[in-house]
Amino acid sequence: MKRKTEKIIALLTALCCMACTTACGREIPNSNNNSEFVVTGGDADKSVIDEDGETIMLVPRTTAAAEYTDTPDLGTTATGKNASLVTRSKEELDRINSNKKPTVTAKPSGGASGVLRTTVVKVTGTGVGGGTGTGTGTYVGTQAVTTTATTPSVPTIQLSYTSAEIWVGTTKDYAIVTGNYIEEWTTSDANIATVDQFGNITGVSEGKCKIRVTDKNTKEYGEIDVNVVKPKGIQEVDGVTYADGILIANKTYALPKTYNPGGLTNDTYNAFQSLVQAAANSGISLWNASGFRSYESQEQIYNNYVYTHGQATADTFSARPGHSEHQTGMAIDVNNPSDSFNGTPEAIWLKEHCVEYGFIIRYPEGKQEITGYKYEPWHIRYVGVEMAKKIRDEGIARGDVNITLEEYFGINSVYQQ
Ligand code: DAL
Ligand code: ZN
Repeated sequence: MKRKTEKIIALLTALCCMACTTACGREIPNSNNNSEFVVTGGDADKSVIDEDGETIMLVPRTTAAAEYTDTPDLGTTATGKNASLVTRSKEELDRINSNKKPTVTAKPSGGASGVLRTTVVKVTGTGVGGGTGTGTGTYVGTQAVTTTATTPSVPTIQLSYTSAEIWVGTTKDYAIVTGNYIEEWTTSDANIATVDQFGNITGVSEGKCKIRVTDKNTKEYGEIDVNVVKPKGIQEVDGVTYADGILIANKTYALPKTYNPGGLTNDTYNAFQSLVQAAANSGISLWNASGFRSYESQEQIYNNYVYTHGQATADTFSARPGHSEHQTGMAIDVNNPSDSFNGTPEAIWLKEHCVEYGFIIRYPEGKQEITGYKYEPWHIRYVGVEMAKKIRDEGIARGDVNITLEEYFGINSVYQQ
């Protein structure tokens, strides 16, 4: 221990001479308090203390990655990363050691935003020598400097709503953004909820996540806390009926005239793309012959059929305006909406595989009394893979592979007037 101390003293003396010659420009006077100072923390062996009774000079080699700046009232500066020269008067050290801590601010450098960095400059000394390394004395000075990284505050984008409860499989319209931004919408968990480029949010499975809109330029952002839940039973929201969260449009349950998703829903569109691709891989060519139809276009179609076939017949294969699934944006007539589609390889493939992509044959064979419509092997309805499989499995359990949505939910499909 003693040998080590003597070595340190010798090293310090040598380094002090160098340092003082270059930095102080004078010889080290004899110590007047017989103290030796040892710097620990950082790379202590690279640290140097010059002790002349008045001035302590140390070169801390901290390992902190933060940039830091001492407050000016210490009269010293230490900027830049890692090591730099700090000169403190003994009075300063005394002041520091009497707990008047300097304030040090740190900025995260590079990608270290928001991470707290701690820079500790610790000075302890156990004097065993004088100016030439002889004598005894004790000096204990300990100073911890904690640098706190501050994250620059990012202004928040104002949204028309910041929390939302969404049912699994349903889409909530975008929140209105106040201000001019180049919006980028992202989700914290696409397994819970997805968001499209416009900010429309779709519940995927039960759970909570955050939807964020970020301005591409300034990185300002706003967030929506989303809770995705599975509704139970029949519910009506804004004139739209849902059964366990599945939108129902049939002869009993109408859609408001204004209900207009503007096209196929994203999920429906994407699922159909996957279905078409899978069919193509099997040499089957499928296409969308008729997808979304607005209230007005259904009105035209239905009235035309009434004109050509009479209302009673038209009601067996064409929905009255407000009652068509095509208005939901979740129904597609595949290839050829006519009886000649029945029994084709395309119809057979569709019936066998549509469930895998979240679709059901909505008006199955032999269920006209239940659905209100004759068999339409071309009309598929998107309900999501989970629900499509549930319905299929329920049908198998009941010994009825042609189970309908009405039978599954225990609802009917009859015009009220
Ligand atoms: N063909 C179906 C029933 C419709 O018109 O929506
Ligand atoms: Zn159809």
